[in-house]
Amino acid sequence: MMDDHPVLASDFNGLTRAQPSLPASWYRDPDHFEKELRHVFARNWVYLCRAESLPEPRAYRTFRVAGQPILVIRDRDGRLQGYFNTCRHRGSILCTEPEGKLNKYLITCPYHQWVYDLTGRLRGTGPMRDVAGFDKEDYLLLRVSLAEWGGFVFVNLDPDAQDFETLFGAETGYVANWPLTDMRVGHNYTKVLNCNWKVFWENFNECLHCPNIHPELSDLVPIYGRAIMARRDDPNWKEHADDDTPPIGGGLREGAQSWSMDGSALGRLPGLTDEDVETGQRYVTIVPSVFIAHHADYVRSVQITPLTPQTMQLSVDWLFHPEMMNAPDFDMEPIVTFGKIVLDQDGAASELNQAGMASERFERGVLMQEEYEVFLFQDWVRRQLGVPPLGAPPTSRASRRAEIED
Ligand code: FES
Ligand SMILES: [Fe+2]
Repeated sequence: MMDDHPVLASDFNGLTRAQPSLPASWYRDPDHFEKELRHVFARNWVYLCRAESLPEPRAYRTFRVAGQPILVIRDRDGRLQGYFNTCRHRGSILCTEPEGKLNKYLITCPYHQWVYDLTGRLRGTGPMRDVAGFDKEDYLLLRVSLAEWGGFVFVNLDPDAQDFETLFGAETGYVANWPLTDMRVGHNYTKVLNCNWKVFWENFNECLHCPNIHPELSDLVPIYGRAIMARRDDPNWKEHADDDTPPIGGGLREGAQSWSMDGSALGRLPGLTDEDVETGQRYVTIVPSVFIAHHADYVRSVQITPLTPQTMQLSVDWLFHPEMMNAPDFDMEPIVTFGKIVLDQDGAASELNQAGMASERFERGVLMQEEYEVFLFQDWVRRQLGVPPLGAPPTSRASRRAEIED
């Protein structure tokens, strides 16, 4: 995200003037939705799954990313390989199940039996004879870029993708002490929401809704109860610069240690420092597909997958350390229950937002001072789509509309 945009205030977090929100049609229109799949989801790193879900060589999983079939497979050396799940003969799907384990170190096309090894080389052409003008070396499986960070597996369908580490090294460095690779999924919560994928992200990017929509969370994280996310979101923050109490400085309410029903934690993850746990939560945000909340005793990943213009899938994993999970008194229920309360509140708010945008008269909304992160998200979406940025003082309504619309 861009942090020095001309409409961002320099001495606090906020917009210096109201900004137009994205056109309402971008939340409804099927053609625009296809465009976002191509330009956003097929051109960025997209989170797929935890590496632990492919536990051993020959394990595979299949996915759809930006509408395209993807195959991830663990090879003989234990490395994950990412391919389009597409046969090079005439294009059949290769692996038809969502997940499984191959019988051999070979992938056989179910159509005419072409055979590939797990590094993508074509090894056999089934019943077909050798023919002039054909060389197996020219028909390797089509590779997608794959990255693993902390046990999270990402793919990028863009052949010219910048590598994951270059793009997100700074972001992930912020949670370097969390033992992510060792952690395991204790619980998953998957549901379909009746909203465009951007609506959920926009909701994630502001806390104006927190006092009203999230009473429990606002009690746990007092600064959220002030409808802001961080100290500097208050334009007068310098007047309270010495005040580190939770309502002003952020962090969990006095005595609380984690996001759970009563604010208690299961313990502290190995490797974390006092500073790591002080903030109560640290986020790693990898648009457009996932944000990951890091707490003292667990980690929660929230995966956002577009389904149709007005629907998306939410898939949430709660990750715990095996040492804690193996303890006889391990109980994740207070953590999972709290998370689901907050997620369901956000889901319901997002669905309200989507439903209202069905008005034909609603052309677009407006972003207020506090919605700087929503603005940055929308600005990012615009740039992915090659739409000129906003930010110059608006000229006239008509020219502004021309600027935004295709
Ligand atoms: S399409 Fe795969 S072998 Fe023909
Ligand atoms: Fe929320």
